[in-house]
Amino acid sequence: MAVNLDPVLACNLRCKMCYFTDEEYVKKIKGQFSVEELNRVAKVVFKRALKLQIGCGTEPTLYKHLEGVVKLGKEYKVPYISLTTNANLLDYEKIEKLLEAGLNEFTISLHGVRKGSYEYFMGKASYEKFHEVFDYFETLKKYYNFKVRINYTFNKDNFEELIDLFSHFNGESFDFLQIRPIQKLGNTEYNNFDLSSLKGNYNSILLSLKKMCKDNNVILMAPDSITKLRQKNTASYLYKYTYCYVSPQAFWKKDFIWKQETFNQYSKRVQWGKEIWNNIFVNKKQLETTPNKLNYEVDLS
Ligand SMILES: C[S@@+](CC[C@H](N)C(=O)[O-])C[C@H]1O[C@@H](n2cnc3c(N)ncnc32)[C@H](O)[C@@H]1O
Ligand code: SF4
Repeated sequence: MAVNLDPVLACNLRCKMCYFTDEEYVKKIKGQFSVEELNRVAKVVFKRALKLQIGCGTEPTLYKHLEGVVKLGKEYKVPYISLTTNANLLDYEKIEKLLEAGLNEFTISLHGVRKGSYEYFMGKASYEKFHEVFDYFETLKKYYNFKVRINYTFNKDNFEELIDLFSHFNGESFDFLQIRPIQKLGNTEYNNFDLSSLKGNYNSILLSLKKMCKDNNVILMAPDSITKLRQKNTASYLYKYTYCYVSPQAFWKKDFIWKQETFNQYSKRVQWGKEIWNNIFVNKKQLETTPNKLNYEVDLS
C-alpha cells in the first residue's frame, strides 16, 4: 500500500488554490497524533507500506515529532519515505536531521516561479526563505543520497512563468519537476479552474520545459496534453486497494478499529482478501458499472 499520513491537521500557509482558504473547511479540521497513537498507526499499517508519504493534505513540518515519524518508517522497513511540504519551516539542521532519520525524498510545493506570484498564490510564504531551502538541498546533496521533487500546481495565471523556472532555481538543487493542474478543492480563494486559455501555448511551453529539464538532468512529469486532463486514469482502479490515508480524523477504512484490531484481524473480518481476489477477474467495463465503484478521481497528495 501507499500510506499517506497527515500527523497534524493544520497549515502555516494559506495558499489561494488550497482548501486552507475555505473557512468552513478550516473550522472542521483539527488535531494531531500523540506519540502513542503514531506508534500504533505504524504497527498496524507500516509493515504493508511500499511507500510512506508524510504530508498529504496538511503541513507536516508543523508536527513536533516529524523526525520520529521517519524513524518509525525506517524501523518498519518502508522502502521509500517522502515528505510533502511547503518548505517554509525547514532549515539546514531540520533537513539534515530528517535525512539522518532516513528520509528518501522531499516533495516541495510551488505555486509561482517569481517572487510576486509565489507570495501571491502561497499566502503567508516567503520567497527568500523558500530559496534558502533550495540552497540547503544543493549543499546537502553532496553528503546525502536523497531526491527533491518540485510539485507545481498550475492554473491559467501561473503556468506561463514556468518557462523561467531554471533562471530562478538551480537545476542542481532538485531532481524532479512535477506539474499538475489545479482542481476544485472546496470553496477556495482562487477559484478559476478553467484552463482553456492555455490551449494555445501549452504544448510549446511543455516542449521548452522538456528541453530545459533534460539539460539540467531533471525528470519532468507533466500531462501530455491540456485537452485530455480530466480523463480517467486507469491506475485509479487500484486506488481502493493501495491508497491508505491516515490522519487524526481518519484511518484508511471507516470500519477499521485500528486502536484495537490488527491489519490481519480486520482483513479477516471484512474478507478483504476475497474482495481483492474477486476483482482480479473483473474487466474494466464491469469495474465501471460495479455499484461500489473502484475508481476515485481526486488525490490530494
Ligand atoms: C494540500 S498540500 C499538503 C502538503 C503541504 N502542505 C504542501 O503544500 O506541500 C498538497 C498538494 O496539494 C496541492 N494543491 C493545493 N491546492 C490545489 C488545488 N486546488 N488543486 C490541485 N492541487 C492543489 C499543493 O500544491 C500541494 O502540492
Ligand atoms: S497547499 Fe499545502 S502549504 Fe499551501 S495552504 Fe494547502 S496545505 Fe498549506
